[in-house]
Amino acid sequence: MKTILITGSTDGIGRETAKELADKGHRIIIHGRSQTKAQKVKEELDSINPEAEHKIVIADLNSQQQVLDLSNQLKDEEAKIDVLINNAGIYQNSLEFSEDQIEKTIAVNYHSHFILTLLLIPLLKESADPRIINFSSMVHAHNLNVDNIWDPINFNGSQAYSDSKLAMILFTFKLDKILDNITVNCLHPGVINTKLLRQGWGAGGSSVEKGAETPVYLALSDEVRGESGSYYVKKRKKKPTSAALRQELQDQLWNKSIEMIKYQEILNKIPDRFLEVQT
Ligand SMILES: NC(=O)c1ccc[n+]([C@@H]2O[C@H](COP(=O)([O-])OP(=O)(O)OC[C@H]3O[C@@H](n4cnc5c(N)ncnc54)[C@H](OP(=O)(O)O)[C@@H]3O)[C@@H](O)[C@H]2O)c1
Repeated sequence: MKTILITGSTDGIGRETAKELADKGHRIIIHGRSQTKAQKVKEELDSINPEAEHKIVIADLNSQQQVLDLSNQLKDEEAKIDVLINNAGIYQNSLEFSEDQIEKTIAVNYHSHFILTLLLIPLLKESADPRIINFSSMVHAHNLNVDNIWDPINFNGSQAYSDSKLAMILFTFKLDKILDNITVNCLHPGVINTKLLRQGWGAGGSSVEKGAETPVYLALSDEVRGESGSYYVKKRKKKPTSAALRQELQDQLWNKSIEMIKYQEILNKIPDRFLEVQT
């Protein structure tokens, strides 16, 4: 039985992924920002797979302090994490800032996941087959201004979303170069009928069951055991935009992402080799 942490598993694709992984016999750490919504998902998972002790953790990814508290809680309470699925996401129609004064889309979709992942490496290392899965999107951007994304001069919701999804791929590819013995991949889940899609693009999209196919595959399949550093669509490797492959951009984003960490306590807990990245 694997222990699988899914950020944003209170709704949409994350919730469906949680249900399917529970159904296949695994234990889910349900992450959300709403205790009420998380409790409902836990009841669903408990009825699907009552054997596993599914658990709820609450943290608003709009806050670096809450990301730190979440990682501290997990380190205190868990022996290992086998799979980390960085799924939570938002689409913003207007410019808002996180608790740490970072544009909210980039803070929630990317930067909090960057921090959470680096803080959870010690727990992933305890697994025999550790996997990190990052949610990107087919609408990831064709370029990134790594200095502008945190406090954009001309905010555009669609641009901010696409930037955050390119950031997830750049992060995946750079992390893959630093890690050994933990795999990291990213994906586009399809165009799926969720509240995020409705917020950004209106109605439409396929079922959440369709959306869960690629994350479930990357979490469990033996075909991808040991496979790392790729972008997947419909369970297949796909080439992302050329910007995602630019090593210089990967390095610039990484270093800026470290610079944007507000708390020394977070930096103290990130292993040195992730702070002093060779460019
Ligand atoms: N839907 C698509 O067509 C599509 C396409 C490409 C990529 N994606 C990606 O798929 C992922 C899942 O999105 P979805 O479509 O399933 O959207 P969704 O149904 O809106 O679910 C998003 C999840 O993220 C959580 N979340 C949002 N803001 C949060 C915050 N500040 N702190 C903690 N959790 C937060 C939500 O919590 P609440 O339940 O409290 O809202 C929810 O659990 C996202 O990364 C999205 O970019 C989706």
